[in-house]
Amino acid sequence: MPLQDSYELPAAADMHVHLRNAPGPIAELVTPTIRKAGVDTVFVMPNLAPKPVVSVAEALEYKAHLQALDPSVTYLMSLYLHSSITPDEIRAAKTAGIAGVKAYPRGATTNSQWGVVSFDPFHDVLKAMEEEGIVLNLHGEVPSNPTEGVTVMNAESRFLPTLRNLVEKYPRLKIVLEHCTTADAVETVRSFGENVVGTITAHHLSLLVDDWSANVNNYCKPSAKSPEDRRALLNAAVHSNGKFFLGTDSAPHDISAKKGKGNTAAGVFTQPYALGYVLTALEEAIARGDLASEKEVTEAALSGFFSTYGRAFYAIPQSIKKIRLTRGGQVVADSLKSDGAEIVPFRAGETTWGVEWLS
Ligand code: DOR
Ligand code: ZN
Repeated sequence: MPLQDSYELPAAADMHVHLRNAPGPIAELVTPTIRKAGVDTVFVMPNLAPKPVVSVAEALEYKAHLQALDPSVTYLMSLYLHSSITPDEIRAAKTAGIAGVKAYPRGATTNSQWGVVSFDPFHDVLKAMEEEGIVLNLHGEVPSNPTEGVTVMNAESRFLPTLRNLVEKYPRLKIVLEHCTTADAVETVRSFGENVVGTITAHHLSLLVDDWSANVNNYCKPSAKSPEDRRALLNAAVHSNGKFFLGTDSAPHDISAKKGKGNTAAGVFTQPYALGYVLTALEEAIARGDLASEKEVTEAALSGFFSTYGRAFYAIPQSIKKIRLTRGGQVVADSLKSDGAEIVPFRAGETTWGVEWLS
């Protein structure tokens, strides 16, 4: 049996998005698609180039530019964990309403060249975050290292001991293991208390390693993995109980960075259609037997995963706005294009779920 033909749900919160530099051509193209996707709140990643967001002043300036692009969205801002950040800056971040600090292991992904080599030098900053209730958002991968046998396929599993150390050392620190891609990661997140959660993207609920090795538009970090890993993610999404929620890691790159010479940029662009991609992935999972039946996909599970669990974790108000998702309501564009950029969305050209705002 398929899912219902339509769902009325609270407005969604996407707790992991890349909107790129603002003002800038990609931000101008993608920020207006947040609301169209049925989303009213986003957690914005700080890995801008040529300079990441490392201070409260920079984060607030960035936020103001995003608000100018769409004032109706709530932007939760973050800092990039960097040696220039002090415990006082963390306290100022709390006062300014900044929600999290993102740690990128150096060399693990796009714009991680200013990232973390070891967490040891950040002890005082992490203590201040624990005290202030500022979230640590982890890109949970170690960089590839052939000598040590690390490839994109085991980079997340190899990071999990670091997560365990952080939880042990900072037991009250709120931590998000971003974009979980493995059964190991799901199990590890589940083993901790309620201050440790995971986000799951829309695309990792449908992709496998074969899908990105054949198509650059499906390539991201962490990369999609095995059928067993995907099954664990699907089950975590519908049986989350607050432990897992949507963070799309929608990562727009201009078509030239995906298809040009040299290495392709990591990132799958899902922003405008993310909720529909999730529903499609759940239906495909039911058809394959990765989910036992459509009865597992309750409205409560969808509301929680799309909206209420993420807001509860970040201690922000629940949305009183409602959306309706309708099967077959729209077709994914071949690309989003302006004078300055062209971005190919995930599942381009396929029919997906439509989104309407009811209030
Ligand atoms: O695929 C990814 N793209 N993973 C990341 O961690 C960063 C992101 C980006 O910024 O493009
Ligand atoms: Zn990301």
